Amino acid sequence: MCGIVGYLGKKEKKEILLDGLQELEYRGYDSAGIAVIEGKKLNSFKAVGKLENLREKTKTFQTEGFGVSIGHTRWATHGKPTELNAHPHLGAYSYVVHNGIIENYQKLKKELQSEGVNFLSQTDTETIVHLFEKYHKQLNDPFAAFAQTIQRLEGAYATLLVSESAPDTIFFAKNGSPMLIGFDGDEIYFASSDTPIIGKAKEVYYLEDGEYGYAKSGTVKLYNNHGEKSFITQALSLDKILAQKEGYRFFMEKEIYEQSRVMGETMMGRVLDDRVDFEELDAAFFDGIHAIKICACGTSYHSALAASYLFERISKIRCNVEIASEFRYKEPLLTKDTLFITISQSGETADTLEALKMAKRAGLKSLSICNVDNSSIVRESDAAILTRAGIEKGVASTKAFATQTMVLWMLALHMGQHKQTVSQEVLNTEIAAMLQIPKALIVTDALHEKLHRLSKRYLHGHGFFFIGRDIFYPLALEGALKLKEISYLHAEGYPAGEMKHGPIALADSELFTVALMPKTMHYDKIKSNVEELSARDATILAISPEPFELADDFVQTAYDTHPMLEFFEMMVVTQLLALEISVRLGNDVDMPRNLAKSVTVE
Ligand code: G6P
Repeated sequence: MCGIVGYLGKKEKKEILLDGLQELEYRGYDSAGIAVIEGKKLNSFKAVGKLENLREKTKTFQTEGFGVSIGHTRWATHGKPTELNAHPHLGAYSYVVHNGIIENYQKLKKELQSEGVNFLSQTDTETIVHLFEKYHKQLNDPFAAFAQTIQRLEGAYATLLVSESAPDTIFFAKNGSPMLIGFDGDEIYFASSDTPIIGKAKEVYYLEDGEYGYAKSGTVKLYNNHGEKSFITQALSLDKILAQKEGYRFFMEKEIYEQSRVMGETMMGRVLDDRVDFEELDAAFFDGIHAIKICACGTSYHSALAASYLFERISKIRCNVEIASEFRYKEPLLTKDTLFITISQSGETADTLEALKMAKRAGLKSLSICNVDNSSIVRESDAAILTRAGIEKGVASTKAFATQTMVLWMLALHMGQHKQTVSQEVLNTEIAAMLQIPKALIVTDALHEKLHRLSKRYLHGHGFFFIGRDIFYPLALEGALKLKEISYLHAEGYPAGEMKHGPIALADSELFTVALMPKTMHYDKIKSNVEELSARDATILAISPEPFELADDFVQTAYDTHPMLEFFEMMVVTQLLALEISVRLGNDVDMPRNLAKSVTVE
């Protein structure tokens, strides 16, 4: 969830790097850094916080003549946003920047440490530079050493490396994370997306997975596992906003598609073979805790509600959830055996922050689940678990919700392990399901096309009811909120079994019911709830793995073995439905009227 730039040429390198990083700041920032080699001299600078801090730090630094340079802006996933954890990472005479995850970094780190290498950071990235120098010592050929290094890496990466051992060269590799090379005559640019090089490079080559190589003297040598490869460049688009959206029409759409990938990051190092672990929580964290209270707002409140089912079912601990703005003024009874959890994508929501301060004043232990390290809520909490969703630009939250829910599910299991309320058998089943979640989140062309077609039938009417039971009730609330936020149509989430106690009075053909009908959870119960609505002529859009005769429209889901797999798959369907309805209505998908991404006022 970071940004990379690189430049090889005669121009002022510091400015090219800083301008490029500025263009990537929309992707997230908590620290940034650059490294430049001119002649044989290596210079590097890092700063925590926004890019302007790095600008300030490099104020008096200027580059002259030919050189190579790399830069990075970071959004913390592994390790705190400190200067030591900021990229570029240094070996003895080389620097590396990297996006993605090196999945086998712990194994590589141990191997290198046993050979006497001293690690300065907590990042997975640092292994790359030490591996490179290890192989360079053995092979005495920088490119061979780089190629050997790449062979050892498992996971997703886009990486650039510069070294005093090859002071006129930038080494690059891409697998799973985006990277491109820009060309303007002899000038060569690298970046993790188009935006930093628009207006600078004229031609571009988008690297494919498994490609690596080096840039030197105005040319690029490209390889994959079949050997050297030729490549064809293309003209570079000139529209920056379009480029930031990476080919998607809206940030929200891009973020829906990203969910599958970011979920891997959320789980990394936490979902292990036989248990769930959070290095953020020390072993005694749950000692003396007999209840959980969760406070949040908006979408985060919905993930909290889903979690309350999981905590009680899996961890066998009492859990109640409150909307932060309600909690603040109800004079709540707080007892010290309660763990106070706040959930917030931004970490700055005023109501949630104030609720947290109240709980702290009452002496409660606090834990935040948040997407932004160093945010006010994270700083205020005793412990924090980062959701690692990467920055979210669409005001209607999608991947933040998905990753919050995932963290909460993991936390319920983690607590269950601690309190011995889950057997190893259950743990194994849950972990197996967790590992399938990224697949369940993939948006297929067929699904998106189907929702696009269906959406035209849902642009009018007098309202929507999203209905579900159990954890699918909070998902129904979230589906309705998404639709409300970006379509401006009235939508409500309701527990399916509660419709008969009032709302069914609204049922007619112009009442649209989106029914979440999972196979693995109370299928027959919700089926009869939907039948009641259908008998009153409500228009039914059913989402289920099980074909449903009475549905006016039907989206068939694929997963039917675990409720959470069904949950996440159905979540994507509701997100796409809201998106496509909003697009058809001509609304501003990413910046819906009257809403803000982060609400820092009461
Ligand atoms: C705003 C946003 C919502 C978000 C809510 C809570 O209202 O528009 O999308 O769910 O704040 O934000 P938080 O950052 O605390 O999750």
